[in-house]
Amino acid sequence: MSADISTRIIGTGKYKADGVLTNFDLEKMVDTSDQWITERTGISERRVASKGIATSDMAAEAVRSALNMAGKTANDLDMIICGTVTGDMPLPATAALIQQKIGASNMCASFDVSAACAGFIYGLSVADAFIKTGKAKNIAVIGAEMLTRFMDFEDRNTCVLFGDGAGAVIVTADNSSRGILSTHLFTDSSLTGALQIPGGGSLYPASEKTISSKRHYIKMEGREVFKVAVKYLADAAEVAIRSNGVTVDDIDVVAAHQANMRILSAVSKRVNIPIEKFALNLRYYGNTSSASIPISLDEAVRGGKVSDNNLVLMIALGGGISWGSALIKW
Ligand code: COA
Repeated sequence: MSADISTRIIGTGKYKADGVLTNFDLEKMVDTSDQWITERTGISERRVASKGIATSDMAAEAVRSALNMAGKTANDLDMIICGTVTGDMPLPATAALIQQKIGASNMCASFDVSAACAGFIYGLSVADAFIKTGKAKNIAVIGAEMLTRFMDFEDRNTCVLFGDGAGAVIVTADNSSRGILSTHLFTDSSLTGALQIPGGGSLYPASEKTISSKRHYIKMEGREVFKVAVKYLADAAEVAIRSNGVTVDDIDVVAAHQANMRILSAVSKRVNIPIEKFALNLRYYGNTSSASIPISLDEAVRGGKVSDNNLVLMIALGGGISWGSALIKW
């Protein structure tokens, strides 16, 4: 790593899916209530992408918007990294489809990163390594998910939680003291079974049986995930703060993956960062997995909530269980 190269985020963008599915709509579909969903999760509504729109369409729109803010064009990109577990298709990479849609050149290496809800932080960490080693100059890092296409709308345990969307950032090689200070990635493979879309891969290739047994839908042991989420997210926040020699009071904005308001409130208390510093939109988007951080970051940036030299802490956790953090001097 070169000490004099920093990785700066110079543009953010998002795609907000057209459709809105409210808790009241869900009351008509499964045995649930607006009160249960609001109290247990903090979600009131979630966005649902229109028929015919694919994950790469949402992602391409988010990248165009981020490029525009960055003052760059698709041809300036030498890499596209897309965090997703709900790509357009198993092959090719969704990032390649995004490259095609935005019209980036053949010199732009494009690949996906699979780390579920932590996919954006994993992608950002990979981008940071490429930039700091001088192997890339301008990278689009994306979190894009269309979870509603993988949801069993008869399963109240999952169908009330997730939504569609995409967010993106453009990172560039810079020689200022601003940029990504550090990233920290972890995986606890004892919990691989807690969050899965089991069908459609090499273990359970698509068949009539995988369809009838609903193996192409998301399955979650919510309680198991909940038990570790607060500790792991708080640990990831603490390691980012500690390794940069700053204190919790120095953190200006927290861009956290948003799965459940109760998890975030508990993390806020545990690490002692007021919840008011969290960039939150869970209530209107639901859990958008890897898209959750870049969407909320874009809204915070465009809403004037992030200023130059602010310290922005990112934390995320998802299937794997994979989680991580990043600390950025804006
Ligand atoms: N409406 C009404 N009741 C529901 C419900 C719904 N949508 N979903 C579950 N319930 C019921 C359960 O069946 C259970 O009933 P029982 O006690 O009769 O068995 C009861 O509510 C409590 O279920 P439980 O799973 O313990 O609820 P919870 O308080 O843990 O909340 C989650 C469920 C999913 C919201 C919560 O566990 C969670 O957020 N988990 C982590 C999710 C996450 O972080 N995912 C990974 C990142 S993507």
